Amino acid sequence: MNPTSFHDRKPCVIVGAGGHGRVVLDILIRARRYNVLGFLDSNPAVHGRRMDGVPILGDLSALPDLKRQGVTGAIVAIGDNGVRRGFADEIEAMGIDLINAVHPSANLAHNVRIGRNVVIAAGALVCAHCQIGDSVILNTGCIVDHESMIGTAAHICPGARLAGRVMVEAGAFVGIGATVLQGLRIGCEAIVGGGAVVIRDVEPLTTVVGVPARSIREVPGYEEFAEMMTPAPLRNLPPTPVGAGRH
Ligand SMILES: CC(C)(COP(=O)(O)OP(=O)(O)OC[C@H]1O[C@@H](n2cnc3c(N)ncnc32)[C@H](O)[C@@H]1OP(=O)(O)O)[C@@H](O)C(=O)NCCC(=O)NCCS
Repeated sequence: MNPTSFHDRKPCVIVGAGGHGRVVLDILIRARRYNVLGFLDSNPAVHGRRMDGVPILGDLSALPDLKRQGVTGAIVAIGDNGVRRGFADEIEAMGIDLINAVHPSANLAHNVRIGRNVVIAAGALVCAHCQIGDSVILNTGCIVDHESMIGTAAHICPGARLAGRVMVEAGAFVGIGATVLQGLRIGCEAIVGGGAVVIRDVEPLTTVVGVPARSIREVPGYEEFAEMMTPAPLRNLPPTPVGAGRH
């Protein structure tokens, strides 16, 4: 990611003034492409306060005014996969660009494709030909190996490791330090517990834990939701050149 001179940095806001918001603020400061004017948060108790020196300006309803004042971009920094995706849709409908936060220490292969509203945290490693969907979080120090596909609003937690050609479907959560062996599918909105080692496909809406991972919770009859839960196709973006991307 190319740092931009201060005056050329685009004004943006971060939606979500919690712990993940702090991480995203740090990434945007370190990446030096955006000027973060404030946070937005749906909790009125925090409006008017500051977090890490940055004002909490209101909730999403403040965005049209902020747009008139020159804010062009926003990123949703909320851990809940469904909420993050929903807020991203609302922001897009207001005509605000969804921006990405990619930490300068993240290491991305030259032909990785990245959607919008994506967070790639410090030390993450994303290998050749991976596709990263909209509103995905690749958290601190995770590894996403070659030709893996991460669906919309999935979250790969700190230190998780995906071997090559893994498919993580929309809204799935791969917990801290988990490992997924090559070629496996983690179904829509499935949950992989922290430290699990996944050795076979995980069905949608299923929670697995342990080594090897076993199911502790499933939703029978999920097939009737299958169409609704099919991951939105990853955008047909040109490869993102490292150092000059759309981040
Ligand atoms: C998998 C997880 C979501 C399950 O949470 P939960 O639904 O509240 O499950 P419970 O705590 O009720 O545990 C259910 C059972 O699974 C076991 N279990 C839960 N998480 C486990 C894990 N990560 N590894 C092994 N066993 C686990 C519990 O010991 C319990 O076993 P028991 O029924 O024999 O007593 C959660 O434990 C987890 O691992 N979350 C990951 C958190 C994370 O990665 N955070 C990083 C955010 S950036």
